[in-house]
Amino acid sequence: MDKGLGSAEDKGIGSAYHYTPADGWSLGNLDFFTVPQKVFTPEEHDIWRVLYKRQLDILPKRAISLFMDSLSTLGISQDKIPDFADVNEILMKRSGWQVVPVPGLIPDEPFFELLANRRFPAGNFMRTREQMDYIQEPDVFHDLFGHVPILADPVFGDYMEAYGKGGLKAAKLGTIDNLARLYWYTVEFGLIQEPQGLRIYGAGILSSPVESVFSVESPSPHRIKFNLKRMLQTHYRIDDFQDNYFVIDSFKQLFDDTLVDFDPLYAEIKGKPPYEPGHLIDGDVVLHKGTGTYAVEAARRREERKNKK
Ligand SMILES: [Fe+2]
Repeated sequence: MDKGLGSAEDKGIGSAYHYTPADGWSLGNLDFFTVPQKVFTPEEHDIWRVLYKRQLDILPKRAISLFMDSLSTLGISQDKIPDFADVNEILMKRSGWQVVPVPGLIPDEPFFELLANRRFPAGNFMRTREQMDYIQEPDVFHDLFGHVPILADPVFGDYMEAYGKGGLKAAKLGTIDNLARLYWYTVEFGLIQEPQGLRIYGAGILSSPVESVFSVESPSPHRIKFNLKRMLQTHYRIDDFQDNYFVIDSFKQLFDDTLVDFDPLYAEIKGKPPYEPGHLIDGDVVLHKGTGTYAVEAARRREERKNKK
């Protein structure tokens, strides 16, 4: 699930996002958006198998080791779209998390509240064959395959719970746009330095075959050490590969570095223009300085599309 994604400016195509209306929801109503898991058709299970196999051919030695282990221990197999109840039985024991089916993207506050209660909302639908390479609204493949294996790590689970609590606070402060960038650059597009090499833990990458290779191997993007304040201020791309990825050393570092009180950070960056994707700034610890070649080409394509309209 890709909620709390920030402003339309960040999304670029914000109006294309479909939100489930919040009418009738109130804080504390944790089950409001949960629906029974869909009985998926043979065609949908088949699409799952195709997507799963494609990623399995790419992800070993690119995904964080925990990811590959978790797929098997949680019973998220290639055979079929998993039964959430079966996954939850194991997931609950490992990290206290559970995955709950929701009809589509849900509004910010209910989303944050679910995370704060260790419930991960997952899209209760499967993309079509025409959407194999790109789907705007996260489906069951993105959510189950991409997000859930990482949630089996108790420390990452703690981070996600803390994020949910931080989100509820940010909703009151009017700082969701800033906080959403943290989610984007960690939960969706995060990289981690493992002893064996640079690895992927972000679900947006793990569920995308081309970005799985691009994020860790392309010379084009910058790879920068995790820096909370910097990330809160950095725009991201939703319709193309990232121009910069942020790299953590461990989930413990991620959790510890985000335990701080965000209020002074929000106050410090308030009113300041965000950093554009692909721009390095003073203070960045740059692990790989990108060539920017892909970014230049992507910018040219964007310009072309704009001129055609
Ligand atoms: Fe997501």
